[in-house]
Amino acid sequence: MSRIVYVNGEYVPEQEAKVSVFDRGFLMADAVYEVTSVLDGKLVDFDGHAKRLQRSMDALDMASPVTMDELLAIHRELITRNDLEEGGVYLQVTRGAPPDRDFAFPDPEQVPSGLVLFTFAKKLAQSAAAEKGIKVISIEDQRWGRRDIKTVQLLYPSMGKMMAKAAGADDAWMVEDGAVTEGTSNNAYIVKGNTIITRALSNDILAGITRAALLRFANEAQMKVEERNFTIDEAKSADEAFISSATTFVHPVVEVDGVQIGTGKPGSVAQRLREIYIEESRKAAV
Ligand code: PDD
Repeated sequence: MSRIVYVNGEYVPEQEAKVSVFDRGFLMADAVYEVTSVLDGKLVDFDGHAKRLQRSMDALDMASPVTMDELLAIHRELITRNDLEEGGVYLQVTRGAPPDRDFAFPDPEQVPSGLVLFTFAKKLAQSAAAEKGIKVISIEDQRWGRRDIKTVQLLYPSMGKMMAKAAGADDAWMVEDGAVTEGTSNNAYIVKGNTIITRALSNDILAGITRAALLRFANEAQMKVEERNFTIDEAKSADEAFISSATTFVHPVVEVDGVQIGTGKPGSVAQRLREIYIEESRKAAV
């Protein structure tokens, strides 16, 4: 069965989906996106993703192509049409396709925003990475200064992934002024004793929707949370480390720059948070 995707108002088989060569997402990376996970055929934290999408669009003065209610309906329709049980929905809003290439933004009255969504199947609740943990390397953070906006400018994060692969690792943690910002496509955490440490929100990192839920669950479970900068050296001597995102939930980190973290096995705090996250997400999914 061929995947059904959504492109600018239409549901079409993926082979028939078309976007203009003048689309600003394609030419200028002038587009924002969201990835919402799906468990049991339902959306995890749709509200959080919809709010962050609105924030990204507002920050870039980009008009929303549909209302948030319509967006939810499109997500659900795609899940149904593709029979998706577990995985996610990728969504992208672009500033649309003006008649020609131009650095200036087009008038939104004349050029409507573009909207593309597609589903992907992925095992989320059970994964080898969750059981074994992942290895990360550190790299310099060379991205632009508004990482709080979820744009499709993903070239440097892709390069980071390739650097990690070349080093025999799974992902890269980016470092700026001596402190870890985040992973290539996830938020980064270390654990010392009973305290979870993760960088505070600012323009330097993406405000992860999974991060927000995890910090809430951690507080409810009486775990201590410190939102502050940490260094790679601190990570190397931490008891545990982990990452979070919509496509990984929580993955323990067992090695940083070749140095084993804690026992070298997934830590109990990361495992517990992952379990709570999956349980609570299943309950609240829509
Ligand atoms: N990435 N930081 C960055 C740079 C990210 O790209 C992501 C998500 C996160 C975690 O955010 P959330 O918990 O809302 O997924 C943090 C998505 C999954 C992606 O690019 O595929």
